[in-house]
Amino acid sequence: MQEKLNSIVEEINALQPANAEELENFRLKYLSRKGLLTDLFEEFKTVPNDQKREVGKKLNEVKTAAETKFNELKEKLENATAQSTVDFDLTAPGEPSELGSRHPLSIVRNEIISIFSRIGYTVQDGQEIEDDWHNFSALNFPEEHPARDMQDTFFIDVTNKKNSIALRTHTSSVQVRLMESGKPPFRSIMPGRVFRNEAISARAHCIFHQVEGLYIDENVSFADLKQTLLYFAREMFGEKTQIRLRPSYFPFTEPSAEMDVSCFICEGKGCNICKYSGWVEILGCGMVDPNVLENCGIDSKKYTGFAFGMGIERITMLKYRINDLRLFFENDVRFLNQFKSAI
Ligand code: PHE
Repeated sequence: MQEKLNSIVEEINALQPANAEELENFRLKYLSRKGLLTDLFEEFKTVPNDQKREVGKKLNEVKTAAETKFNELKEKLENATAQSTVDFDLTAPGEPSELGSRHPLSIVRNEIISIFSRIGYTVQDGQEIEDDWHNFSALNFPEEHPARDMQDTFFIDVTNKKNSIALRTHTSSVQVRLMESGKPPFRSIMPGRVFRNEAISARAHCIFHQVEGLYIDENVSFADLKQTLLYFAREMFGEKTQIRLRPSYFPFTEPSAEMDVSCFICEGKGCNICKYSGWVEILGCGMVDPNVLENCGIDSKKYTGFAFGMGIERITMLKYRINDLRLFFENDVRFLNQFKSAI
């Protein structure tokens, strides 16, 4: 029995379980109820009385040694696994993080900016809260013009009708601020958010975006306007695009026109986007009215110029065939994700 106990001590000391499974086998072999030590305690009953004291002592020593070893190894293994979750492989490839996408309105706005910047237009920023002068009066709006009416404009302060404060209804107000700020020539576009008091539907919203353009210099003619817009239309909708100017009216331009582009979907053959006319309307334009130039301190005898304005939503809807304006403002990721491949 003594010898048996000695060899078990040696065995236990030599053991180095490498994982949880081996450690469990160790416990089963020595410490469990059916393990070796239980057998030895059983055997102890047969030890002659005169040896009981010595063998008993040894047996208890073996039991403590096995238990200590087990606890030691268990702790070691637990520490090792805890550490391995902290350590990570520096050579492992990174987790790809999902990129967002640009909003379709931003994509189209950036494209418009890029097209005009190629022919020397700078970008002019303005304020969304405007006074009556910059949004209406300087732009030659007669005092009782329906566009000033409560139905179209979100007024903030109407205590004094002439000096009322409102959310701008168009970015033409930025043209006024630009012209007031210095001397011609001016060659800028003004992208921005505008506000109109309209019921929200698939075709109308109380907030939308415009890009207006202004070019003022000596000898600027309607032919320059036409050529500039033709360049824009071809860059935006393809080189086969034709343009058509129809006479129109804006208080701040004279003459005024509305511009259609040949339908880039059916190429003029007729489809439901162009309502079988072959043409789609995309912007308003005209020669800046001399009254507007004078209102902004510009000599209308020396300088002439043109202006144009377009809705970004309309162009985006045509370009991507989106049929409901409200989609732009809902930020539904299923909608936005579709523009990932666009810049
Ligand atoms: N400001 C006009 C609008 O909001 C657009 C426009 C701008 C028309 C410049 C002509 C010239 O509808």
